[in-house]
Amino acid sequence: MPSDQNPAVPVHVGVIMDGNGRWARNRNKPRTFGHNEGLKSAKEIVRYAAELGIRYLTLYTFSTENWKRTEEEVGFLMSLISKHLKNEMNFYRENRVRVRMCGAPSPLPPNLIKEIRDVEEDTAGFDGLTVILAINYGGRDEIIRAARAAAESGQELTEETLSQHLDNPEVPDPDLILRTAGEQRLSNFLLWQSAYSEYYFTETLWPDFGRSEFDKALEAFGKRTRKFGGVL
Ligand code: IPE
Ligand code: IPE
Ligand code: MG
Repeated sequence: MPSDQNPAVPVHVGVIMDGNGRWARNRNKPRTFGHNEGLKSAKEIVRYAAELGIRYLTLYTFSTENWKRTEEEVGFLMSLISKHLKNEMNFYRENRVRVRMCGAPSPLPPNLIKEIRDVEEDTAGFDGLTVILAINYGGRDEIIRAARAAAESGQELTEETLSQHLDNPEVPDPDLILRTAGEQRLSNFLLWQSAYSEYYFTETLWPDFGRSEFDKALEAFGKRTRKFGGVL
């Protein structure tokens, strides 16, 4: 943790952005409408996290299980991510945001993989918040891929060697994981890295989640006592 970091401000926040579909259904709109609104919330939270001095923000964008959705919804989500990546370079520049991905590139559409690699490269020099987009991400899948890579490297399997082969080994474990829309589960998010994360759940649906809700999560986090198995 940098020495100027306020201890009440987590270094790394993971967000399970859930409830877009319910938000749309409540308005008799198609689920895709909710995803469009959810993207607006994501941008606002990126801006706010950057302002607050949070160093890493992982956004659960598309899970390895989300392929089970209709072809229409999956296609819409892929094109929404792609459109965002192509159009938001100014947004990243203004907010000094560095973008990274976690998750398996295959079977994502090749054009999307290229767009992700391009934005990673174009934002690599920015020194503000790092936003990690979890796309085709599953915690179990990441652990399996890391274990295979560690085995291929001939290293003995230890917590350290496995960690070195995770998708972004330089990123510290999340201090806080928050989930919207009332569900209290991880749904395969950051399984390895969340061993000692603090959790925060809210009923608010992701498209309604804004700065004041984020403040509430940070306030709750600030009151937690983290012991990491030790004694205070
Ligand atoms: C989260 O909202 C967005 C993604 C999973 C891509 P949902 O689409 O899961 O919304 P609900 O849970 O159906 O309301
Ligand atoms: C988790 O939400 C995945 C993302 C937010 C991208 P889901 O809506 O897919 O999770 P479940 O199915 O309710 O567990
Ligand atoms: Mg959901």
